Amino acid sequence: MINLSLLLLLLLGCFQPVFSIIQIDNDTLSDFDLAQRITSNNKSTGLQEFTPIIDTIVQSDVKYYSFDVNTTSGLGEFYELLVFITGNICTQPAGIPENDTSLAVYYSFNSSMFEDNEYGQMSLFSDGYMQALADLPIGQVQTTEGYQPPTVLYIAVRAPENTNSSASWTYQIGVSQNDLVFQWDDREWVKVLDTDDTSAIVVTGNLSISEQYRRDKTMPYSLYVYSYGMKDYFTGLNNSWCAIRNGPALIGPDSIATSFTNSLDGTRQQFVVTGLNASTRYIGYVVAGSIGATTGGVVFHPFTFETMENDACQLIYGLEFCTQVAYSVPRPQGDPSVNITKQLYDNYTENLYTNFSKALQQIPCDAKPDSVFSNMKTCNDCANAYKDWLCAVMIPRCSTKNITGYQLREPNDGRNAFINDVVVPNKTYFEVLPCVNTCYAIVRDCPSDFGFLCPTKLPMSYFWDVDTGEGNEQWPSCNYVGKVVAIQSSRAFKLVLNYGVLLVLLLGSYSVI
Ligand SMILES: *[C@@H]1O[C@H](CO)[C@@H](O)[C@H](O)[C@H]1NC(C)=O
Ligand SMILES: *[C@@H]1O[C@H](CO)[C@@H](O)[C@H](O)[C@H]1NC(C)=O
Ligand SMILES: *[C@@H]1O[C@H](CO)[C@@H](O)[C@H](O)[C@H]1NC(C)=O
Ligand SMILES: *[C@@H]1O[C@H](CO)[C@@H](O)[C@H](O)[C@H]1NC(C)=O
Ligand SMILES: *[C@@H]1O[C@H](CO)[C@@H](O)[C@H](O)[C@H]1NC(C)=O
Ligand SMILES: *[C@@H]1O[C@H](CO)[C@@H](O)[C@H](O)[C@H]1NC(C)=O
Ligand SMILES: *[C@@H]1O[C@H](CO)[C@@H](O)[C@H](O)[C@H]1NC(C)=O
Ligand SMILES: *[C@@H]1O[C@H](CO)[C@@H](O)[C@H](O)[C@H]1NC(C)=O
Ligand SMILES: *[C@@H]1O[C@H](CO)[C@@H](O)[C@H](O)[C@H]1NC(C)=O
Ligand SMILES: *[C@@H]1O[C@H](CO)[C@@H](O)[C@H](O)[C@H]1NC(C)=O
Ligand SMILES: *[C@@H]1O[C@H](CO)[C@@H](O)[C@H](O)[C@H]1NC(C)=O
Ligand SMILES: *[C@@H]1O[C@H](CO)[C@@H](O)[C@H](O)[C@H]1NC(C)=O
Repeated sequence: MINLSLLLLLLLGCFQPVFSIIQIDNDTLSDFDLAQRITSNNKSTGLQEFTPIIDTIVQSDVKYYSFDVNTTSGLGEFYELLVFITGNICTQPAGIPENDTSLAVYYSFNSSMFEDNEYGQMSLFSDGYMQALADLPIGQVQTTEGYQPPTVLYIAVRAPENTNSSASWTYQIGVSQNDLVFQWDDREWVKVLDTDDTSAIVVTGNLSISEQYRRDKTMPYSLYVYSYGMKDYFTGLNNSWCAIRNGPALIGPDSIATSFTNSLDGTRQQFVVTGLNASTRYIGYVVAGSIGATTGGVVFHPFTFETMENDACQLIYGLEFCTQVAYSVPRPQGDPSVNITKQLYDNYTENLYTNFSKALQQIPCDAKPDSVFSNMKTCNDCANAYKDWLCAVMIPRCSTKNITGYQLREPNDGRNAFINDVVVPNKTYFEVLPCVNTCYAIVRDCPSDFGFLCPTKLPMSYFWDVDTGEGNEQWPSCNYVGKVVAIQSSRAFKLVLNYGVLLVLLLGSYSVI
């Protein structure tokens, strides 16, 4: 048997049942009125499992709903009847003062609650969201002789008074015996990978299997981009899925290309936002729930991002060889399309890698234990570490920001001859140097025959992964490609990259420093 209270804690997070009942003006009803309300509710607004309704209410009014409880379903099947009630405010009257009492939701298994709301328990909307748990404790559910458990949950929504007699609210109420229909999460669920002057790439966290293989085949998350000037637009409604989906977004999910991606660890949903302005801040809201979803969803904490100030850099992603590259690179001469630019960098890097593969085949790394260069690592580990390193150094990350550690590059002074002669950047840019971990990884994972060493003094051609400071979360101090490597500092500081070996063995005449 699951520990029910623990389960509830998990499900409800910061849920606080509200047991106090506030004094509300008496709305006395005749029996006839009551019957009418119940009957009309049964016909029109009876609530169904996980099927939220949307409704409008004017100030001082009360709306009534009922939910037929399935006594053989839900979490509390044997011991307790549990019904989750959640709500969203979609719109509210303009100019409502902060902390003003919002809509109230009353609920009870006792129909007397429709006569007098005070018989019910009450939960208030806060930041556009409400949640409550209606439960019948063990004793009352077990069918003692002659006792019938209640089968209807009565719900009333009451609007506060407002000086504007036509002030109205639009809200949604969702009821379920299994889960919260609406939810909010104050964590950011997405990461901005990079931007250029007109576009941005954003990815979610790891998706669960059920999110990847949804029965309706829709994407699990949607992104809404607002101008940064609107950052306070949802104050007082920021936990409402409904409000955010119906707000005046600059760019809505219909205009944002989205797909699954495996380029980082795990499977994530990727958003490519285009049509942005240079040097501009934006605020993004990601919600769980596909475009047009009607079954409810989750709203996450908004995130901000900033575009680059000019077109020196171009955002590329979806490379076939360097699959983990999803960042801005020096824009090649002639300003080719994203597809051409990514092939230019990717093809070149793949060709260099082919040379390395041939060299690796001449080293007996997968042979008998005593001839293995390391007791843990295989040729594959070396090949992967080398690939990550090669992608990081051959596909430099570009920025127009001047952040500590970034290296200023004039158009004819790129990282290597490939950049200068083939890419031929047209503008001055800053290079985000590869993280030194990328270098440590090849030293650690590759046969010593290769003579890989990393530089002793930084910054040189690498930089550390350090905090770039408040407001700079979008701008990493170094460019990371590949798996995170734990740094063993005592050893790491002594290493020097043996460029001579590298140049001869792997890169022909191109310097990679
Ligand atoms: C509500 O109405 C009932 C019956 O008319 C009355 O007994 C009760 O005192 C009233 N409550 C309030 C708070 O006015
Ligand atoms: C809805 O109608 C059914 C059948 O007519 C009845 O059993 C049930 O109690 C009604 N629900 C409410 C809330 O009145
Ligand atoms: C009640 O729940 C059970 C188990 O989930 C389900 O099989 C049954 O169809 C439900 N009954 C109604 C009336 O929805
Ligand atoms: C609203 O409530 C919060 C927290 O209780 C408080 O910090 C804030 O000052 C209040 N705002 C107003 C306008 O009263
Ligand atoms: C419903 O509430 C009223 C008022 O508190 C009470 O008199 C009545 O006994 C309750 N009915 C049930 C079935 O508990
Ligand atoms: C009163 O509310 C209505 C509907 O929300 C709105 O159109 C109207 O402008 C409001 N009047 C005032 C004086 O705020
Ligand atoms: C994402 O999933 C991958 C593989 O399923 C796992 O290795 C990785 O640690 C996960 N990342 C996070 C942040 O949970
Ligand atoms: C909404 O705002 C409140 C108060 O400012 C904050 O506590 C909450 O975390 C915010 N919600 C989200 C989803 O970020
Ligand atoms: C870029 O390539 C992708 C797939 O490889 C294709 O779907 C898309 O149409 C191409 N875009 C342009 C502008 O050619
Ligand atoms: C990259 O290589 C592919 C396949 O080898 C080829 O079709 C494409 O034209 C090349 N692109 C560039 C820009 O060199
Ligand atoms: C970048 O910032 C550093 C430190 O703030 C400063 O010394 C340097 O001149 C700046 N470079 C450019 C090109 O603005
Ligand atoms: C960059 O390209 C534009 C046109 O493509 C050209 O007019 C300009 O002179 C170039 N700038 C540099 C620094 O090469």
